[in-house]
Amino acid sequence: MITKNKLALMLSLAISIFFIAPFTKVKAAESIKIGIMLPYSGAFADLGDSIEKGFMLYSKQKGNKFAGKNLEFVKLDDESSPPKAVENANKLVKGDKVDILLGSVHSGVAMGMAKVAMDNGVLLMVPNAGAAAITGSMCAKNIYRSSFTNWQAGYVVGDIVMKAGHKKVVTITWKYAAGDESVGGFKDSFIAKGGMIMKELSLPFPNVEFQALLTEIASIKPDAVYTFFSGAGAVEFVKDYMASGLNKTIPLYGSGFITEGVLEAQGADAEGLVTALYYGDGLNTPRDNEFRAAYKKAYNQDPDVFAVQGYDAAMMLDIGLTATKGDVKDMEGFSKALRQAPIPSPRGNFTLSASHNPIQDFYMRKVIKGKNQVTGIAVKALADPAVGCKMQ
Ligand code: PHB
Repeated sequence: MITKNKLALMLSLAISIFFIAPFTKVKAAESIKIGIMLPYSGAFADLGDSIEKGFMLYSKQKGNKFAGKNLEFVKLDDESSPPKAVENANKLVKGDKVDILLGSVHSGVAMGMAKVAMDNGVLLMVPNAGAAAITGSMCAKNIYRSSFTNWQAGYVVGDIVMKAGHKKVVTITWKYAAGDESVGGFKDSFIAKGGMIMKELSLPFPNVEFQALLTEIASIKPDAVYTFFSGAGAVEFVKDYMASGLNKTIPLYGSGFITEGVLEAQGADAEGLVTALYYGDGLNTPRDNEFRAAYKKAYNQDPDVFAVQGYDAAMMLDIGLTATKGDVKDMEGFSKALRQAPIPSPRGNFTLSASHNPIQDFYMRKVIKGKNQVTGIAVKALADPAVGCKMQ
């Protein structure tokens, strides 16, 4: 028999389930959790810092909401360590239950993240790492990049070196995906134009013991040197190259990362270096001027390409999630929205390829008075070949 008391209890339980259950459900769906995996220590720490600052600037401009949902962040230092990448990404996906993965700088780390994103169907936004596989053999509906491929960044420099009259080149880089692919891109354009590679030199990431390799370059006597180093390695390499005196007879060229975000530390050693990248100082477009002013106001420093990639990663998430009304699993809708319209980046508008990599203009740059001054267009609308991408 149901007593009056029991009836009252059942009634109040029913009422609380009716009101609380839908409330908690709505509450959970009101936020989007983003797992940020970046290098906060090691050779690429400054790059991670810039990416985060760019990302947070855009998020703050949008009131910390995409598609009306609050953004929550969980941060993890990936130490630019590929062997720890899968475990770290799994920590964010399975432990913290993030809806989106953002990262990273190092190609080896980002490939580990891509594996975890594929295994778990989680949306991954890559704000730097240029590994070909991410938008090549591993390309997927849920994997996107706001930056570049290493191939793109190397390819544009081959032509510049050839046009400067250099026919025989030695390359020097770190022995991992980014270095190999950057040199690969350089060779694709340089050799096609009749250039010759005399020797490919390398050392393991993140080593900076360059002396023996510089001695070898001196004995080979190429017309010029092509290099990919970045962050702390770029600072040290340019310093050592100039100290060796090699620059007097063998000019140094590189993808833009050799001088990007490191000019203050390189000082006079970097003056005059010619590079190419899809961003630089002095673009002087209304879009970039507005971005640079906002960045300077927020952080009291000038942005670099890494800050732009972070900013654009946030913008791409915003565009995609607005189209899906915040549904982080609707990858059809997300992809359609991003592929439809040019993305209004501070670097200039770019479009997203079928493999989800930016198709973008590359600028010629020269270091003048401590700035990566844009001096012209190197290649317009350069797309990565996306070898091996079979988008499902
Ligand atoms: C990479 O590992 O893909 C990488 C790292 C630093 C850069 C560019 C590419 O500046």
